[in-house]
Amino acid sequence: MLIALVTLAVHRIQLHNESIDQIDLFSRVPPWPVYTALNWWTQFVESTIPYYTIPPVIQMFKNNLSYHVSRSIAAVAKYNVADHIGHEEMSTQQIAEKEGIDADMLCRVLKFLETKGIFAQVPQKKCTFRNNRMSSYLLESHVNSVKFMAKEQLIEYKLFDNIDEIIRTGVTESYRTAISSAWGTDDARINFGKFMSKVTVMSIASIVEEFDFTPYKSMIDIGGSVGQVLSRVLERYPNMTGVLFDIPQVVQDAKQEWSQDHNLERISFVGGDFFESIPSLDPITMKPIDLYFMKMILHDWSDQDAIKILKQVRSAMSINATLVIAEASLHEGHHVGNRHSDIVMTVIGGKERDTEQFNELFSASGLKLERVIHLRSPLMLTVARPM
Ligand SMILES: C[S@@+](CC[C@H](N)C(=O)[O-])C[C@H]1O[C@@H](n2cnc3c(N)ncnc32)[C@H](O)[C@@H]1O
Repeated sequence: MLIALVTLAVHRIQLHNESIDQIDLFSRVPPWPVYTALNWWTQFVESTIPYYTIPPVIQMFKNNLSYHVSRSIAAVAKYNVADHIGHEEMSTQQIAEKEGIDADMLCRVLKFLETKGIFAQVPQKKCTFRNNRMSSYLLESHVNSVKFMAKEQLIEYKLFDNIDEIIRTGVTESYRTAISSAWGTDDARINFGKFMSKVTVMSIASIVEEFDFTPYKSMIDIGGSVGQVLSRVLERYPNMTGVLFDIPQVVQDAKQEWSQDHNLERISFVGGDFFESIPSLDPITMKPIDLYFMKMILHDWSDQDAIKILKQVRSAMSINATLVIAEASLHEGHHVGNRHSDIVMTVIGGKERDTEQFNELFSASGLKLERVIHLRSPLMLTVARPM
């Protein structure tokens, strides 16, 4: 009980601390004991403390209504509310004029979010708000910004609306075809690329520090989005070249993102479809690629489709090449947030997988599992080679 009270007190103080926090939480990999303790602590604060301290009926009300919070965050992200406020204070009337929205409605949404510790009302000034420690994460410029993730939810809510039906029928082929258009607009695709870059920030330090890229000369990032992973790997390993492979529109977005990158001469941008074919030669050196990398790709797909992708990877690989798959770790005691990732995959027809499930995919695709590396981040690396 004492621990619970101290935790709650610290939590409240943190929420009301009005300094805007710009520390990059994920730039360093914590030592294992710290990482394990943090995971344990998060689980303890999120589930054990509420379980024993909040009456279950209230907790169930909160759980049931938690989409009010999520949906309101997405709405204020859409209308750039935190960015308009910035480091000053602003009335909802001023924000409403900039965005062409209703000031009173916005005020009610912000007053609701304030009860969750997000945004702070300025005393004695009607409907005037400041960013606080939580809402500052909705600033586009924040190094760990969740703004793009919040905007991405505007698509995911629509998909999640189908979860009761999916529990009954599973994901059908016609549903899968229908949802693939959800990301079809330029805005949705560009926001998704930015969202994935911010997700990558959480794990990139652990990838470059806990996997040794030294033996490899050339790496292809399959479905590499706008190149967040390749950028960091090439920066850390100056003798490597890289191939960014994604659908042509995303590769165009990536070229724009990279126009300022000083490693530009070591990267090739290749647009294509991983169900059709995957490059086997590095366009810069014209030598076989020796490291095939895929992060958060297979989890989007059914087993049947994942095997089709892996067969394409296998046919591109030379016998000495290595495949590294980075996906959420479902390992006991690992990052609790990974269950969120799996639940999202239920509505798009994919899934997070454990080592045994990867092994089955590999056997069906001419690959064999070599080892698994659990990272000090939400991800695990599954390393495979040609059979
Ligand atoms: C979940 S994102 C992962 C992005 C990146 N690997 C990361 O972890 O940040 C999936 C990526 O696969 C790409 N993709 C989807 N279908 C593809 C296809 N048929 N061929 C190539 N890339 C594809 C998407 O454009 C997107 O960038």
